[in-house]
Amino acid sequence: EAFDVMVVGSCMTDLVSQAPRLPKAGETIHGHKFFIGFGGKGANQCIQAARLGAKTAMVCKVGKDFFGDNYIRNFKDNGVHTDFVGQTSDAATGAASIIVNNAGENAIVIVAGANMLLGSGELQSALPAVSHAKVLVCQLEISPQTSLRALRMAQENKVKTIFNPAPAIPDLDPDFYRVSDVFCCNESEAELLTGSSVANVEEACRAGQELLKRGCGSVIITLGPQGCVVLKARESSPKHVPTAAVTAVDTTGAGDSFIGALAFYMARDPTMPLEEMARRANEVAGVSVQAVGTQVSYPFKRDLPAELF
Ligand code: RIB
Ligand code: NA
Repeated sequence: EAFDVMVVGSCMTDLVSQAPRLPKAGETIHGHKFFIGFGGKGANQCIQAARLGAKTAMVCKVGKDFFGDNYIRNFKDNGVHTDFVGQTSDAATGAASIIVNNAGENAIVIVAGANMLLGSGELQSALPAVSHAKVLVCQLEISPQTSLRALRMAQENKVKTIFNPAPAIPDLDPDFYRVSDVFCCNESEAELLTGSSVANVEEACRAGQELLKRGCGSVIITLGPQGCVVLKARESSPKHVPTAAVTAVDTTGAGDSFIGALAFYMARDPTMPLEEMARRANEVAGVSVQAVGTQVSYPFKRDLPAELF
């Protein structure tokens, strides 16, 4: 049986401190809460798709350590297929040190560790499954060559691709645009990739047009409380998809919730207009920002209004 959504990407243990504000260089401040959670952009996206009801598989690498063992258990608990989850003793499971301030904003340092050892060998083993999947999703917390190879592999097999260039790198290989059916990033990533400011809907539309020209099928730029803009190669005008206002307590991983939901909708009903998928994905991500933490805040199908399904 084919997978709806396969993710080739990262797993990180999130070490989260909540503090009134982000510290300055050289400064020590008191925080009020610390917790450990499951994170990493790839895994986050996969878990959100799974919680909405997609049949999912993760292709990733964790360490042969406590955090890695725990992570594999987390995938199983969420119904994610783990045959393509490798464990290595050559590096530690990826970790993310995260500070969240009172405004729900964050600063993150990731140490990718085992994620960087995911390579062509693992992709080859996953090829039979990838070639039959409905949607493949990649990001940039593993080696970019591995992501690009996975996207090419999917495209050659007519599998729909979503590429999330996060965290953004300035010298992104131009082939990434051509292998992306949907190229989905946030405002700061769009800024870095285009070199122009993306501070409002109008600027996002312009940046989206620039990214679209580089060869992707469609572009989505997420804008937090302002929703997102959607651009399609065969349509002239960008569309702004607004979203309902919510009170954000922790926006960490909201973009991943959006992408996981988008992947779910693309797999479930490929004929649904992309703007409608984006509208629904905005709603799913909007739920995640109203609770602290990354994956722990991602809604299940049962938590969401029936109109989203
Ligand atoms: O996008 C959010 C994620 O980025 C966190 O879970 C953290 O692990 C970092 O990779
Ligand atoms: Na959250």
